[in-house]
Amino acid sequence: MPSLSCLPDESVATALFRRSLIGWYERDHRPLPWRETANPYFVWLSEVILQQTRVEQGTAYYHRFIEAFPTVFHLADADEDQVLKLWQGLGYYSRARNLRVAAQRLVQEYGGSLPADRKKLLALPGIGPYTAAAILSFAYDLPFVAVDGNVQRVVSRLFALPLPVDSPQGKKEVDRLADLLLDREHPRLFNNATMELGATVCLPVSPRCSDCPVADFCLAQKLGTAEELPLKSPKRQLRDRYFHYIDVRDSRSASPLMLLGRRGGGDIWQGLYQPLLVETPVAMEPADFLASDSFVSLKRSFPSLEPKGYTSVETHVLTHQRIHARLYRAEADLETSCLDDYPPYQLIMVDDLPIYAFPRLLEILWKKGDVLF
Ligand code: ADE
Repeated sequence: MPSLSCLPDESVATALFRRSLIGWYERDHRPLPWRETANPYFVWLSEVILQQTRVEQGTAYYHRFIEAFPTVFHLADADEDQVLKLWQGLGYYSRARNLRVAAQRLVQEYGGSLPADRKKLLALPGIGPYTAAAILSFAYDLPFVAVDGNVQRVVSRLFALPLPVDSPQGKKEVDRLADLLLDREHPRLFNNATMELGATVCLPVSPRCSDCPVADFCLAQKLGTAEELPLKSPKRQLRDRYFHYIDVRDSRSASPLMLLGRRGGGDIWQGLYQPLLVETPVAMEPADFLASDSFVSLKRSFPSLEPKGYTSVETHVLTHQRIHARLYRAEADLETSCLDDYPPYQLIMVDDLPIYAFPRLLEILWKKGDVLF
């Protein structure tokens, strides 16, 4: 079988490769809901969700989103809090905010439809080259190759690429090779098939090369290096941060109250909610934290503040940082406390807690058992 690596675009090998790949996909593939539709809005939603999570979990989010916002107009009209609540658990919350702002722009500029034009799509917030290519190919069947992590892995193995796929040079080369492989007559099928191959056969660990419809075209398979590819750049150092949440409640009245704040811009989790948060530059055990200046100054605004217990530390890794967080549970007389010192925080009824969107880290902390003081 001729190799793909040294042959030009429309070679016999490339044509055979496409036929093998697409034939395999057409014989059998997972029936995913966004594959049943060419609705550009649904395609867009599914792609933004799938950038954040695996297909199994993404499917549930997809259904919830299209039920809550069946059209671009519904999403454009939604409250930011409502969109963030539906997005809760997916992380990277700017993606959810961008979805809503882009929907508003689509309504204003394109009467609520998604333009079948790469430049116009790229001008919308949150739509980068990948999402634009996915919309153009899946919704409009236009010849754009959508290179996600699965496709990067497939291409890197097919050509035994000696470059890290997350380096600018490696990414560019993968994009170039993927574009050479793209079946311009059947871009929707081709992109679906390549993603399916990456998700079900060309797996990150223990690839199933003996079941692969294009193993004969794969240089890594020939060299026995599939398992070592794709190459990745050395990991960057993460910044460690130490969060001490203080969930302050006032349980004296019939409708218990608690303190909740909305996170501002310029940091992670913009627009999500949280109990009182104190961040320290170093790790602190509970006894040290409660004796620290930060906690003592809190007591000035909440003189009746009484810590009742605390959780173990939960560590949460984000793209550039590692958050070490502990949750303290405390009681205070909130009705007479000086909230003016803490402008982003407000009193809410504990029963209303499910309305608000929280980082997953907090959901985990809330479910933990306490060590009591
Ligand atoms: N991952 C990202 N987009 C996808 C799609 N359209 N189908 C399957 N997996 C995907």
